[in-house]
Amino acid sequence: MNNQQIKLLQTAFARVEPVAQEAGELFYNRLFQIDPLLRPLFTGDLQVQSRMLMTAIGLVVQGLDQPEHVTKQIRVIGQRHVAYGAMPADFESFGAALQWALEQTLGDDFSPPVQEAWAEAFTFIAQGMKAASNGHLVAKP
Ligand code: HEM
Repeated sequence: MNNQQIKLLQTAFARVEPVAQEAGELFYNRLFQIDPLLRPLFTGDLQVQSRMLMTAIGLVVQGLDQPEHVTKQIRVIGQRHVAYGAMPADFESFGAALQWALEQTLGDDFSPPVQEAWAEAFTFIAQGMKAASNGHLVAKP
């Protein structure tokens, strides 16, 4: 990702922050439509979870211009996901649902260049999380 893409994404995400919970709820509804088997993994309050997810993503996006710091954050989140039962393949459904929720939330502001920057950022986050789980996130048999 170049600096221009990072700036573009940060500006777009600043508009998600005030509606992070709503965006998160859109996301989870979509996620469980795409993959209903993921629903039982989430045992907590989904409103709280929605806020935590979008806040975490927002923090990572706002930190993309400080790669060392953000890589560490991603690693810590990835390590916690081993215990949650997250599998590498789940990142695909996650990515698709996030893309959709961001489209709904940002409308025209989710322009093609923003989408492209987001796709790169998501790949970076997902790869970092999978790598951080140190081989514990193994593919489903
Ligand atoms: C962009 C990728 C993701 C990010 C940024 C993310 C972020 C988070 C955050 C911030 C939490 C709150 C607890 C904590 O901080 O440890 C959480 C919990 C959780 N995440 Fe993720 N997550 C991601 C991908 C996934 C994927 C692919 C799965 C697969 C199923 C998943 C399943 C869960 C579950 C089950 C919980 C615990 C919910 C509960 O306790 O009820 N996450 N995630």
